[in-house]
Amino acid sequence: MTLSQKLATLLVAIIALSASALADDAYQAHCASCHGSAGKGNASLGAPNLTLFSRAYLTRQLQGFKEGWRDTSNPYSGSMSAAIAALDSEVLAEAVATIDKLPDSQKISSGNPTLGNADRGKDLYTAYCGACHGTRAGGNDALGAPNLLGLDANYLARQYHHFSEGRRGFHPDDRYGKQMTRLSRSLKDPALIADVSAYVAQLSQ
Ligand code: HEC
Ligand code: HEC
Repeated sequence: MTLSQKLATLLVAIIALSASALADDAYQAHCASCHGSAGKGNASLGAPNLTLFSRAYLTRQLQGFKEGWRDTSNPYSGSMSAAIAALDSEVLAEAVATIDKLPDSQKISSGNPTLGNADRGKDLYTAYCGACHGTRAGGNDALGAPNLLGLDANYLARQYHHFSEGRRGFHPDDRYGKQMTRLSRSLKDPALIADVSAYVAQLSQ
């Protein structure tokens, strides 16, 4: 290798290194305080585990928070929207790239999944949810349906209620959110979501 070739190789390595350091920084600087440095989430802040979501889903949700698809009158969606309001799409893309590289964490951080009946939840999940979210709840990007594994039971139930109460999936541009809103009426009693959460929590273990 000539000296100039060596220098060129070195330069490429340095650029790659600083690009990855930058990506780490975007997540650690702007997201880790709530979602945790490993991305596992923080139940007391209502911040979900991010490690099992696909890039497509993460990117779309970030766009949604920016564009007013989520009801910011509740403190959880409000704090998340405020946290990223000043960040441009480049920084957000760097954060997503870092999340993508974090090891998957299936840990249920809290919530009391035993509140629901997992057996009944299994029947409900199979009948009403599995077609989109997958039989093992791992999600299906082609349908826009996210992974549900590893989500805190309270978080899962809260989001479901947001859909069924029209506080998520109401924006005209939120195509996938609107789909889930329609589906959220399939459980006759929204309280049955506790059973579904209990079943999904069981799948996560
Ligand atoms: C101040 C705390 C806080 C910070 C900082 C924060 N988040 Fe959040 N995030 C939350 C909370 C709370 C929620 C749940 C919102 C809700 O319930 O609607 C959330 C939700 C999300 C969701 C939606 C997940 C889903 O299940 O649909 C994504 C994606 C996300 N955050 C990514 C990020 C990224 C990327 C960053 C950094 C650029 C970040 N967050 C910074 C608190 C935060
Ligand atoms: C027709 C397909 C479809 C069916 C059936 C369906 N969903 Fe969904 N679900 C979606 C889509 C698409 C999204 C993503 C919405 C978005 O982008 O905001 C979603 C999002 C969700 C979320 C939000 C997750 C998060 O991280 O914020 C929860 C919770 C959820 N679904 C639970 C359920 C449950 C429980 C059932 C069964 C009772 C169900 N879904 C049935 C398509 C479906």
